[in-house]
Amino acid sequence: MDKEKLYEVKNKYSDVTINRTEEEIDRMAREILETLNLNQKLGQMYQMVEGANPFGSKLVDRKLEKSIVNGDTGVILGTVDWEKALRFQQLAVEQSASGIPLLFNADIIHGCDTIYPIPLGFACSFDMEAVEKAARMAAVEATAIGVHWNNSPMIDVSRDPRWGRCTEGVGEDPYLGAQLAKAQIKGYQSYEHGANHYMMACAKHFVAYGAPEGGRDYNTVNISERELYEVYLPPFEAAVRESVDSIMPAFSTYNNIPVTAHKGLLQTLLREKLNFDGILISDYTAVAELINHGVAANEKEAAQLSLEAGLDVEMVSDCILEYGRELVSHGEISMERIDASVMRLLKAKIKLGLFDNPYRYINPAEYEKVTLSPQHKGIARDLARKSMVLLKNENHVLPLSEQQSAIALIGPFAKEKEIEGAWAFVKQRESMVSLSEGLLNRGVDTVFNEAVGCDLKETDEVKIKAMIDQAVLAAKQSDVVLLAIGEPQQMSGEAKSYGKIDLHSSQKRLTEELLKTGKPIVVILFNGRPVLLDWYQQHVQAILEVWFPGTEGGNGIADVLYGDYNPSGKLAMSFPYCEGQIPVHYRQLKTGRPLEENPEDPYRSKYEDIPNEPLYPFGFGLSYTHFEYSKVTLSKDSKKPGESIRASVMLTNSGSYQGTEVVQLYIRDIHAYGVSRPVKELKGFQKVSLKPGETQQVHFDITDDMLDYYSVQLKKILEPGQFEIFIGASSNTTNSKVFILNDPK
Ligand code: GLC
Repeated sequence: MDKEKLYEVKNKYSDVTINRTEEEIDRMAREILETLNLNQKLGQMYQMVEGANPFGSKLVDRKLEKSIVNGDTGVILGTVDWEKALRFQQLAVEQSASGIPLLFNADIIHGCDTIYPIPLGFACSFDMEAVEKAARMAAVEATAIGVHWNNSPMIDVSRDPRWGRCTEGVGEDPYLGAQLAKAQIKGYQSYEHGANHYMMACAKHFVAYGAPEGGRDYNTVNISERELYEVYLPPFEAAVRESVDSIMPAFSTYNNIPVTAHKGLLQTLLREKLNFDGILISDYTAVAELINHGVAANEKEAAQLSLEAGLDVEMVSDCILEYGRELVSHGEISMERIDASVMRLLKAKIKLGLFDNPYRYINPAEYEKVTLSPQHKGIARDLARKSMVLLKNENHVLPLSEQQSAIALIGPFAKEKEIEGAWAFVKQRESMVSLSEGLLNRGVDTVFNEAVGCDLKETDEVKIKAMIDQAVLAAKQSDVVLLAIGEPQQMSGEAKSYGKIDLHSSQKRLTEELLKTGKPIVVILFNGRPVLLDWYQQHVQAILEVWFPGTEGGNGIADVLYGDYNPSGKLAMSFPYCEGQIPVHYRQLKTGRPLEENPEDPYRSKYEDIPNEPLYPFGFGLSYTHFEYSKVTLSKDSKKPGESIRASVMLTNSGSYQGTEVVQLYIRDIHAYGVSRPVKELKGFQKVSLKPGETQQVHFDITDDMLDYYSVQLKKILEPGQFEIFIGASSNTTNSKVFILNDPK
């Protein structure tokens, strides 16, 4: 390739600051494209992974640095080290024939070095400002070491806690999922800290990856088109509206077609209907896996199918790199099709300013300044506290008093520092604050009687008994027991599906012995997914859900336990009573035989052996104070399309602690011609902070976009009729009022 030509092109623009117009970016990309041959174009479309040897359907035996110099790759996955990024970029810019800079892409799912709670945890904060702030912090740290492109946000809705990846998603609700998508993309794709901290986002995994049959990761997804549109698509629609730079198709199938090769979803729906024009990057070896899916006979067909569906970048497997040339020369794939993908990649690199300065994102001095800074730790601690959910608090055993003379700190998670959760890569383990350290950091005079109490791996009965005895002794010497239990963080995340989601039995045995002491027990729960808590709900005095809270976890938990922060979290995902209820969620249809209509009638939609309701529903979470809701009032009893109605409640803090309530708005379309609608749908929420005794009016303006629905023909329509407005503290609120949407005539 004529490199002089390329530099001529670049020099022509090098004096232009990087805030080029779309036309200038397009023209520059076009000129660079014209200097490339087909091999170089295909190289731009191939993402190699730094570090681990690729796995999947075929071991790709390529040497990374040689491939960079050959121009066989344009994007590197997993480089989160500025020295490596510098070396690889120099190879690309100074030694490859094309001289085109690399993009560095990584999974910064909930923090780079300063880790904030797992996404299912921060979803419970219902605090989009705090989420956006944390995402921006992650972008500042990651971009300082050269990361241009983040494989986040993961915005898969899921109603199935057997699926280990619910830990990194948005929970069960499409509306909350859409808000979380928006907040994270705004956080990443921001120039607030300057152009060098703008980090491309990637909304994943398009689409309905969170609904695998049996909750088994990578398994078949069998949902209706209606469910696709109503439940799983909204977060991605929000991501496209927020101009997300890229989207990653899911490993899974939809209508038995792997999404990686699904023209209907990727072209017709995403590109044409939703007008997405960002980059489509496959998931890890997902193109080659089309062979396992049985839709491609070989890698050439896999390459063809994924190109025809619109894929721009292949991650790790190299079907397109290997067979793209043959497909084009045989006319099976057009050069225009290849050029369309390469243009997207070149425009992304131009937009990031990499042709002005390929090394602009490599700032070791900046990195040293920002990583794990007090300000960043403060952001992580704040979001950790806001993510915690108080599930039970009998006899106000919480908050703790600093005057308590002795507290027993028991359980395998009391001193645990591996509390970052899935998809977080901790470089300095000592930076993680355990629960024990968080309590000690408060510097209270209280004596903490510590005992591990149980070890999830221990099988020696003598040792087990000795640990329990030690814990019982600690409890007897204390006023209250803090019992830190849960599931190891390795039990949730990718490829971590479980048919059983109860906690390890050793923890229940320990709890049974501690109960005999008569001391109040506060369970502090470390987990990555909803787990079975029915037995604990019945037996212990308090349960605080802390998820995997990240770097500042111990400090955040201590803040909540002592009431410095009155817990305000609300569950983003229901906790089932047992696995038999799964999939479990609040957004149910009424059915033709609703149990609540006539509970005595045997012919009703119910179980014979368990309740219909989950143990804890979506939107549930307690506070140290008490919030009272007035009845819902409406500014009028009916409206015409185009008008709005104001729905209000008076919210009073009738307790004795300052607190924040997540006031939730749900709407029910009581009758839709021919289509059964959910008994409730979340359509809004507001966080309201009140001092003891304070009352505030909280209102929501009900607009048409909250009332329309997909008709029998799956067309969005607004239909006159009755709508029920709920405003309350959880999805099981009955506080409602009905209004009429009139016919426009
Ligand atoms: C993984 C995940 C995806 C991640 C990618 C790169 O298999 O499915 O979420 O972004 O590979 O690490």
